[in-house]
Amino acid sequence: MYPGPPILHTLPYIDMNRRQFVYRSTLAACGLNLRPPLFTLVAQGSPLVDGRRLNANLEQMGGYGRTAMGGIERIAFSPANLEAREFVKELMRTAQLEVTVDAVGNIIGRREGRDEDAPPLMLGSHIDSVPQGGNYDGPVGTMSAIEVAYTLADGDILLRHPLEVAVFINEEGGKTGSRAMSGELNPEDLDLPTRSGHTIGEGIAILGGDPSALNSVKRGPGSIAAYLELHVEQGRALEKEGVDIGVVEGIVGIKRWRVTIDGFANHAGTTPMNDRRDALLAAAGFIQIVNRTVSAVEGRQVGTVGQLEVSPGAPNVIPGQVTLSLEIRDLDMEKIDRLFQTIEVESQEVASATRTTFRSEQFYVSHSAPTAESIRQTIAEVATDLGYSNLRMPSGAGHDAQSIALLAPIGMIFIPSVGGISHSPQEYSRPEDIVNGANVLLNTLLALDKNPR
Ligand code: HGY
Ligand code: MN
Ligand code: MN
Repeated sequence: MYPGPPILHTLPYIDMNRRQFVYRSTLAACGLNLRPPLFTLVAQGSPLVDGRRLNANLEQMGGYGRTAMGGIERIAFSPANLEAREFVKELMRTAQLEVTVDAVGNIIGRREGRDEDAPPLMLGSHIDSVPQGGNYDGPVGTMSAIEVAYTLADGDILLRHPLEVAVFINEEGGKTGSRAMSGELNPEDLDLPTRSGHTIGEGIAILGGDPSALNSVKRGPGSIAAYLELHVEQGRALEKEGVDIGVVEGIVGIKRWRVTIDGFANHAGTTPMNDRRDALLAAAGFIQIVNRTVSAVEGRQVGTVGQLEVSPGAPNVIPGQVTLSLEIRDLDMEKIDRLFQTIEVESQEVASATRTTFRSEQFYVSHSAPTAESIRQTIAEVATDLGYSNLRMPSGAGHDAQSIALLAPIGMIFIPSVGGISHSPQEYSRPEDIVNGANVLLNTLLALDKNPR
């Protein structure tokens, strides 16, 4: 059920124009603030977003896929995701963006710039969630990007570059939208299953896209002047250090394998313990090896077995087959490969001890991506000018930005995640941190528009 136009129409601030903008800036400079504390205009002349409007729209986004546990289930291609997409399109139009949907279903809001030959500056993120996720991973960046466009429209600020706001599809299911734009998405990826029960190709069709037209989505290197993404940190570094803004230095690479362990299904009551080929016992050994191998090496790499299926899956049958997912992440792609090779060798010992066989098939790779040093500097300068403390840091989470890095210089801005929690109903970021992040996004965009470096 789409509950009608975005909350913007009910807010008392939406029609602020340049005159009011200057008037209120002046009053604010004299300490006469006409607005509640959440929205203040900084007298330094740096334009600021309308924090109340931004957080209200983020709250409304949270109404799509809200679960009884207070989390968010807005899986790509699900009904909740479809409704949220309509809300985003409406919000973009209200922010005076021209809305188009590309052949895989990415929503692109665009406003022309003064220089029609210049490549666009792009802001983006996603609105789909993991199962039982939260409302901040993705929507903070998406809603802030739209709010930036709205603030520019409010202040009649026309950039030199065209502005594009991109809402990429199925980020949580493998960054489908941004990988289609970067050219990493292969036709065979369309057959991959997703948590919605549809394959990626079916999902694209549900969004009104055309899975046979992947090439029309692809953009070339240099076709985007620069890409910026605001995102919740999804870790605890900023909170622990008491820092407002994270200046992301690089985004980890991710590789995923499907591992199949074959044993022999047999009667659980009549098969002696020393005469079994128990696939689940072998899987238990495999999971221990993953944890031990990845933990044994210096660095921030991580390894996870997140999915596991047992067949035939009956209490009175010895498991004959187990399929599980293995994911390894690190900024160094070669380290990922070395860790996988070690795990493979060690799992052979488990295979012979349990008389089972292991086979693995890589089904996903997302290459690590450094952000552009010049954009890191700009983000840090802007944050400092706005009075926000800031810290350089890597991203342990994957993001759409790492695919767009194949097309353009990228920058990523983090805000604190309370307790470092994410991919959970307890995921939360404070409204004031969200406003800080959006202000850094806005002013970094303005700085890049003047000097794309
Ligand atoms: O999995 C990730 O790192 C991201 O949140 N999709
Ligand atoms: Mn995300
Ligand atoms: Mn995520």
